[in-house]
Formats: sequence, C-alpha cells, structure tokens
Amino acid sequence: MKKILITGGAGFIGSHVVRMFVNKYPEYQIYNLDNLTYAGNLENLTDIENASNYTFLKGDITEEEYIDSIFLKYKFDSVIHLAAESHVDRSITDPLAFAKTNILGTMVLLNSFKNLWKNDWEGKRFYHVSTDEVYGTLGETGLFTENTSYDPNSPYSASKASSDHFVRAYGETYGMPFVISNCSNNYGANQFPEKLIPLFINNIIHNKALPVYGDGKYTRDWLYVVDHANAIDLVFHKGIDKETYNIGGFNEWQNIDLIQLLCKQMDEKLGRKKGTSAQLITYVKDRPGHDLRYAIDASKIHKELGWKPSVTFEQGLAKTIDWYLENKEWMERIVSGEYEKYYNKQYQ
Ligand code: NAD
Ligand code: DAU
Repeated sequence: MKKILITGGAGFIGSHVVRMFVNKYPEYQIYNLDNLTYAGNLENLTDIENASNYTFLKGDITEEEYIDSIFLKYKFDSVIHLAAESHVDRSITDPLAFAKTNILGTMVLLNSFKNLWKNDWEGKRFYHVSTDEVYGTLGETGLFTENTSYDPNSPYSASKASSDHFVRAYGETYGMPFVISNCSNNYGANQFPEKLIPLFINNIIHNKALPVYGDGKYTRDWLYVVDHANAIDLVFHKGIDKETYNIGGFNEWQNIDLIQLLCKQMDEKLGRKKGTSAQLITYVKDRPGHDLRYAIDASKIHKELGWKPSVTFEQGLAKTIDWYLENKEWMERIVSGEYEKYYNKQYQ
C-alpha cells in the first residue's frame, strides 16, 4: 500500500487533489497535512473526511521537529507538496511569510524525506507543485516552455522559484527522486475569494465594485482546477524523474475580456438585465510589479503523458459560477471576520 503525504490539502487545488486520490485509489493511504491558515478549509473535504484511506494531520510544514516526527511515524513513500502561501498581493505586503512557508517549509519537508529514506529511494517520489510565475513575464508573444529561464518578479514567485531550486538540489545532491510541475492560473470550486474569479463572483452577487488593476490588459492562461488535478495524477504516476512538466489551459484571456464574459454569464444566471454586472467594473491602482502576460506551452505533458484539458473556458466558468451560487454559505462563512479586514486594506 502506498502512503502518500499531500500537503496543503485543505486549500483550493489541494482539496481537489486529495479528493481525487482518495476516491480513485482506495489502495493508497492518503495523509493530508495542512495547518489551516486563512486559506485552508476542511469544509472543502466533508465528502471524503470519513473515508477509510484518508487521514488529516494538522501541522505546519515549517516546524522541523513535528515534520520529522510524522515522517518517522507514518513512513510516507511519496509526497505531493502543495502547501504554500499563494496570493501575489499578500506577498507584496508580507514577503517574509512567503519566504518562510514556501522556501523553508519546502526545505523542511525535503530534509525529513531525505532523513527517513537516506539512500533507499526505490519506489519513492517527491512531487513539487509549482507555478508558471517562476518564469517571470512574457511580452505580447511567446510561450513558457520547460526550458524558459527562471525570472520571478514578485516575492511569491521568487519564493516558489527558490523552492523549485531546492527540490532539484536535493535530487542532484542526495539522489532523491523528484518531479516538478509548473501550472498556469487555476479556477473552479473552493477557491478563496482573494483571487480574481471568486472575488469578482462574490462582488457581483453583492453588487459591489469590481476592482480591475491598471488598464485590465494583463493576460493569464486559465485552467479548470479538476484538469490540474488530473494532470497532477498523471505526472505523479507517469512523469519521469527529474523532469519538469508545464501545465496550462491553452486558454489565454486579457483580464478585461474575462471579466466581461464573467459579467455576462452572471447576468444570465442571476436573471439580471444584460449589462448590469459590467456596470460594476472599476479601474483601480495597479499591482506593483504586475506581470504582463503568462502563457504556457503544455505540449510536453500533452505529447508525453496524453493530458489535455477536459472543458472549454466557457463550460468551466459556468460550472464554477454554479458552484458558488449553490454554495453561498461556504462563501458567507469566509467573507465575514478576517476577510473583511484584508479586503478593506487591499482595496481601500
Ligand atoms: P491555497 O492558498 O488555496 O491553499 C494553500 C494551502 O496550504 C492552505 O490549505 C493552507 O492552509 C496550507 N498551508 C499554508 N501554509 C502552510 C504551512 N506552513 N503548513 C501547512 N499548510 C500550510 O493555494 P492553491 O491556490 O490551492 O495553491 C496550491 C499550490 O499550487 C501552491 O503551491 C501554489 O503555489 C500552486 N499553484 C497555484 C496556482 C493557482 O492558480 N492557484 C497555479 C499554479 C500553482
Ligand atoms: O499563474 C499561476 C498563479 O496564478 C498562481 O501561482 C498563484 O497562486 C495564483 O494566485 C495566480 O496568480 P495571479 O496573480 O495571476 O492571480 P490573481 O487571481 O490574483 O490575479 C489574476 C489577474 O487579475 C492578475 O493580472 C491580477 C488581476 N486582478 C486580480 C485581483 C485579485 C485584478 O485586476 N483585480 C483583483 O482584484
């Protein structure tokens, strides 16, 4: 029986990955390690919380003694590492928190994994889930490939880039089998409403302004979160050691065009007159160091592992909106309290 440690499993992408592994692989024992920061939410996993092959461990990846102790106790043979501070705007106001969790936390996990298995690496794997932001920004043309040089611009992307380097260094120095994937912007159910799509859905529901940074012409490559989880499953099982796989949606949108589409779909679903939600669009101060454009060349994972996205953006967005409309209590519990403070500070 495989014993897999998934970190950050109470967060957005992590919860989809945990659910998929618990349901699809009853023969694996899945351990979800998460310290439940503002972004971690066990409500994301109520459907599988009692599964016999699932265990939740509440703990901090930066706490060396604790992490060592759980590796010794459970003897995980694989790690799928997603725990991170993940929001670029927060990295601008609190960069040290990102260095601690994303760099030190990753190193602590690598170190405990190394101390447990020493040279006995047969059948073991450390899978590091990373981001396309490590490559910096593109101009109007071109795509990020697995060979694009790292050139991060925000404290978030610099911390993720650093963690990627440490994973590679442990592979080269200690022979630890690893694989890394760098993915583009995800969207879907259970995403914390600090990120563009859920924040705007919530604001439209409540007739609040939609704060578009700068001129709104920044471009992102959007991928439905379930398709990312499918890609992680493939890379984990079939990816080649020491390789990187870029994952993206073949789906570039300028922010303002995406927001117009979102407004259109929201008007239809809320039964509002066409054009109502778009009136909430408000241009605000730009994000410092804002990367102009991300776009992934996902041909390697497509050709080598046979992966491709399963839904179009219009379909994925419609499913996402439906989920938020059907799960208003999930959102309401989040947007009270601490969130309000964050929101007022960020968008004052
Ligand atoms: P998220 O912020 O929704 O979730 C992060 C999770 O990690 C939360 O459950 C949180 O409680 C947990 N966590 C944070 N610090 C921790 C610590 N010190 N110890 C234990 N747990 C801790 O993030 P997400 O959007 O789901 O992203 C998951 C991973 O995927 C991250 O590594 C991120 O860099 C990467 N990624 C995200 C995207 C995206 O579009 N969201 C795209 C590409 C890659
Ligand atoms: O590319 C992958 C990355 O995508 C992940 O590694 C990050 O964890 C994830 O947060 C995401 O980063 P972005 O900064 O691209 O996502 P965000 O949703 O914050 O912003 C998307 C775009 O929308 C970006 O150009 C900034 C803009 N934006 C965002 C917010 C929150 C606005 O115009 N207004 C907003 O209020």
